[in-house]
Amino acid sequence: MDNRYKDIVELMKDTRKISEEDLAYVLESGGESEREYLFEAARNAADQVFHKEIYLRGLIEFTNYCRNNCYYCGIRCGNSNAERYRLTEEEILSCCDIGDKIGFKTFVLQGGEDPYFTDDRICELVRKIKAAHPSCAVTLSIGEKSYESYKKFYDAGADRYLLRHETANEEHYSMLHPENMSGAERKQCLFDLKDIGFQVGCGIMIGTQGQTMKHIYEDIVFMQKLEPHMIGIGPFIPHKDTPFRDEPEGSVEITLRLLSVLRLLFPKVLLPATTALGTADSLGREKGILAGANVMMPNLSPSGVRKKYLLYDGKICTGEEAAECNQCLRRRVERIGYHVAESRGDHPDFK
Ligand code: SAM
Ligand code: FES
Repeated sequence: MDNRYKDIVELMKDTRKISEEDLAYVLESGGESEREYLFEAARNAADQVFHKEIYLRGLIEFTNYCRNNCYYCGIRCGNSNAERYRLTEEEILSCCDIGDKIGFKTFVLQGGEDPYFTDDRICELVRKIKAAHPSCAVTLSIGEKSYESYKKFYDAGADRYLLRHETANEEHYSMLHPENMSGAERKQCLFDLKDIGFQVGCGIMIGTQGQTMKHIYEDIVFMQKLEPHMIGIGPFIPHKDTPFRDEPEGSVEITLRLLSVLRLLFPKVLLPATTALGTADSLGREKGILAGANVMMPNLSPSGVRKKYLLYDGKICTGEEAAECNQCLRRRVERIGYHVAESRGDHPDFK
């Protein structure tokens, strides 16, 4: 066992801090016993707060229209091969009814930045979902909006908001996005959301073009400032109809190690084992939980549209019905000694 590796893990546990140099060491050095030491420490930290409970979130991918043109994303507006769809209000409400019946306590409405869904339409949707399912939480993941729009969503009853910052480094941000998009504005959105009172999730992809250890360190510094309630990380996976089609896939190993680092630095944070992780490795989500993650996001979208919400190639769970995804994930969770929570799964400080 490498003592330096062990010392860094212990230091993270005790101080909830890590230096840039130590971060690179923990993510890139060490063999089987070192990584297992890290994973075990993170697992124990998660178990202390969440007692082996895993929170499920029903993900409704309600539109793949998007006005943005992010270089990595399969539903970017420049992808003329994408078959566009948007769900009707009735279809979205019916997804929530199905989700409620199979035990989900959170609905995540995710989509591209689709101008059809005006603030009024989103607020109306949120109000209807909350009226039909008052004990459930509604999470929105619909991109960058003004402070006023976010406030309207919150006042309509939305509880949480997911907006990955993608990278805290603005130069790196500009390698991943066209000129009209700004990393500074995206980060400001996250502070606005927090100020309004949302439980807020930020996050990054692992292995995007040009990403370095220094960038990941800057992401951690940004997260320490933001103090998010959720952090979504997953490997970058190329999509054939994007400018990044020939870029290599992000590393599952670095993703797992970073999940552990984040768990140790932010013991109470909600940390999903993402679909991208499950796509890059067929047991990726289980490995994620065993590295400290505590959330999974089964797909609740109608099966007819799932293949159209392709952010990257090879995305899993596009052929199944909601009930099948639910059963599959519950089995996966139980097989590794965890169980699915009955509660809404708010951040511990929000109870
Ligand atoms: N439009 C909303 C937004 O901007 O936050 C939500 C949808 S967006 C597709 C959700 C997330 O998918 C992005 O924040 C990004 O991190 C992730 N994503 C997009 N393309 C990806 C790819 N090729 N590989 C892995 N993750 C990807
Ligand atoms: Fe808009 Fe991906 S470019 S969701």
